[in-house]
Amino acid sequence: MSGLNSPGAASSNVLELKLSMSRTFDVGIETLAGQVAVVPAAAVAGRHGHLGTFTVRASNLASASDAKLTNPAIASESSDGTKSFYLETFGCQMNAHDSEKVSGVLLGRGYRAVENPAQADLVLYNTCSIREKAAQKVFARLGDWKTVANGKIIGVLGCLAQQEGEEIFERAPWVSLVCGSASYRKLPELLAQLEAGGRRVTGLDLDTDETFETEITRRDNLIRAYITIIEGCDYSCSYCVVPHTRGPERSRASEAVIAEAERLAGAGYTEIQLLGQTVNSYRDPSARKWSFVELLRAVAAVPGIRRVRFTTSHPNDFHREIVHAIDETPALCDHVHLPVQSGSDRVLRAMRRTYTREEYLQKIEWMRAAKRPISITSDIIVGFPGETEADFEDTLTLLDAVQYDTIFSFTYSPRPNTSAKDMLDAVPEEEKSKRLAVLNERQRQIQIANNEKLVGETFEVLVDAHHAARGQWTGRSTSNRLINFTSTRAILLGEYVSVRVTRGGPNCIGGEHVL
Ligand code: 5AD
Ligand code: SF4
Repeated sequence: MSGLNSPGAASSNVLELKLSMSRTFDVGIETLAGQVAVVPAAAVAGRHGHLGTFTVRASNLASASDAKLTNPAIASESSDGTKSFYLETFGCQMNAHDSEKVSGVLLGRGYRAVENPAQADLVLYNTCSIREKAAQKVFARLGDWKTVANGKIIGVLGCLAQQEGEEIFERAPWVSLVCGSASYRKLPELLAQLEAGGRRVTGLDLDTDETFETEITRRDNLIRAYITIIEGCDYSCSYCVVPHTRGPERSRASEAVIAEAERLAGAGYTEIQLLGQTVNSYRDPSARKWSFVELLRAVAAVPGIRRVRFTTSHPNDFHREIVHAIDETPALCDHVHLPVQSGSDRVLRAMRRTYTREEYLQKIEWMRAAKRPISITSDIIVGFPGETEADFEDTLTLLDAVQYDTIFSFTYSPRPNTSAKDMLDAVPEEEKSKRLAVLNERQRQIQIANNEKLVGETFEVLVDAHHAARGQWTGRSTSNRLINFTSTRAILLGEYVSVRVTRGGPNCIGGEHVL
């Protein structure tokens, strides 16, 4: 399931500070060399910098944090006649990582990245259509160019491109490129057509059976490197547009995944996040036919890799072996994002989620019985068609039963090309919002209790940001908890440090560096 989209969405989650575009573009071997920083050099020399963001837009640099790294590969002016591009990303981590690959393709063709769209020859939006609001945002952005496109090439990539197809040309005739994520392998060809003067080009096929491999990937995050291990989705949840926008499930060969992990470790990364809409349905298409757990263990065994995360897991493919692997392998992070969507069996059936509440709770039990405490997070939709008060109450009691560390909560949004779109018994918007508020308040109380229990505990934190104005550092524990802390040390970015928790609020955890 696609909780991958969750972190970009409004939720009851902890404060997330964002900083991106903080390193040079990777060419071929993906080295971490060449970062120039306002941050003291030694912080960078420690091989790491900053937290990622879901909007891959260089302008985030200025606003997001006190600690700024600048990316010398982003030129502000066109001086040498090369073509320039601007790429803004909406939505999930999968999209963010796709954008890293798209940027790699463009850089490989000699384009330069610019941080101001007005200065770009090619303006690209990598889009999301999981909920209607996400789609509206993209059309608003496209509207900005209506009278000022001035010979620029404007392109729409990603899920909205796939969903709307050539309709986008109707709504925004100044757009020249429409390419869905399942067709990214065609991007170089589409770009060549545009470069040759093509006016309108599209990549909208879904029948691809290969994954999007690139020779060059630009890495926007100095701390965490993403590796897509599976693309598309073979489930058919009745509310979800993803199978339509991203196509059928395709796993990457384990050799390619391990080779990429080794390259990243060689480049200085210690944390890897494996990505997929249903990451745990991974099936190695190569002769060695590794299971997801075999792949997890192998990535965790790559020398230099200290943390391996994976998202998003589908409950149906969540087997006990995953918990055993986490127990036995310290490098596998003790955090599982396991979207439940609803606590009501009736609604789960209507959503076509393929599991019952009881089966889901069984998987939670496995995790609660683990030797290492595992942090569990989830996605929940309220107001699915036909959801009664009693169904909603089942979702609230599920929260009580599981005691999630965080949830990403959404009101149901009807989407094109989904079977739920025309379902009867729509819940009125006002009622959806009311249920969302009740849900979030219940979860808030759980988070207060969970976080207060952490006071006095010490976590290993990988430091990803500094907030000079607040005199604080920020980083994540292996359980993915965001921790703000103070330290007497002046340089910590990219380091693993011990932090003792001194306070736990509903949305944040505070602590102090244990020297
Ligand atoms: N309406 C509301 N939320 C949705 N999600 C997916 N599709 C919809 C929809 N149509 C949520 C699910 C998913 C998360 C990424 O987005 O909770 O796990
Ligand atoms: Fe996740 Fe279901 Fe959507 Fe697939 S169809 S991405 S499993 S929510």
